[in-house]
Amino acid sequence: RGKKAFIAGVADDQGFGWAIAKALAEAGAEISLGVWVPALNIFKSSLERGKFDESRKLSDGSLMTFSHIYPMDAVFDTMADVPEEVATNKRYAGNKNWTVAEVAESVKADSGSIDILVHSLANGPEVVKPLLETSRKGYLAAMSASSYSLISMVQRFGPLMNEGGAVISLTYNASNRIIPGYGGGMSSAKAALESDTRVLAYEAGRKYKVRVNTISAGPLGSRAARAIGFIDDMIRYSYENSPVQKELAAIEVGNVAAFLVSPLASAVTGHTMFVDNGLNVMGIAP
Ligand code: NAI
Repeated sequence: RGKKAFIAGVADDQGFGWAIAKALAEAGAEISLGVWVPALNIFKSSLERGKFDESRKLSDGSLMTFSHIYPMDAVFDTMADVPEEVATNKRYAGNKNWTVAEVAESVKADSGSIDILVHSLANGPEVVKPLLETSRKGYLAAMSASSYSLISMVQRFGPLMNEGGAVISLTYNASNRIIPGYGGGMSSAKAALESDTRVLAYEAGRKYKVRVNTISAGPLGSRAARAIGFIDDMIRYSYENSPVQKELAAIEVGNVAAFLVSPLASAVTGHTMFVDNGLNVMGIAP
């Protein structure tokens, strides 16, 4: 039986979520996506117009397909949490059942169960502001979208997961080391995500017999990273200073994600795995 994966946080073919989808599709998994509501129309029309066909190509020549594409907004758990201005926003109109609980219900109705849950999303409205200048609202928004969203997903999708299943998310080493420019509470959000990965590994491990890990990735010029502004400098810095001198390809992260959610990693849980060409082990720039 092919494994069933649900991936939250794909809205184009540039980010880690897409690369994880590809690595899992190569391994024979059936993929469903949760796409951020405001990005859904563009994603779907680009997909239909063939804009992603080149990046959909699998090694056997076929094109990666998605069983289901759901609208999703991971900062809301149920409709009761959705404020009026979002509910009536024109970018949300016409979509329904996009809160985390509702997406989990839809996935259950359509697929019954899943084996793999991927969290590849983050948002920090004040990411360009230093922590010292971050507002309470901005900080809490970063935590809500980038950290609590994982807890919410494990809460709601855990009951749908088959024993032996696995959860994976994406983090960044700004959790442990000072990365000037990664502001707005995003560094805090990644620290929380890594700590929560450990606690969820225990709690969801006992409750659902699933594993929970996170990948600490090196810099990639995704849409989210472009919004931070200093990604090209980070890519150059990483290239110049890492033990392995090459640019990180998204698929390298996708392949490690595929390993971590596979039986090959059946004893690995609660772990933060670096996939960063080794930059994290350097003490000072050479
Ligand atoms: P991306 O732009 O491809 O992915 C981020 C996705 O999150 C987008 O598809 C966006 O629509 C979605 N999203 C934002 N808010 C959402 C919400 N409320 N509900 C549902 N979806 C929402 O960018 P990337 O870089 O691939 O990001 C994926 C993960 O990788 C994030 O957790 C990011 O922090 C992490 N990461 C990225 C690094 C980089 O250099 N690009 C380095 C280390 C970690």
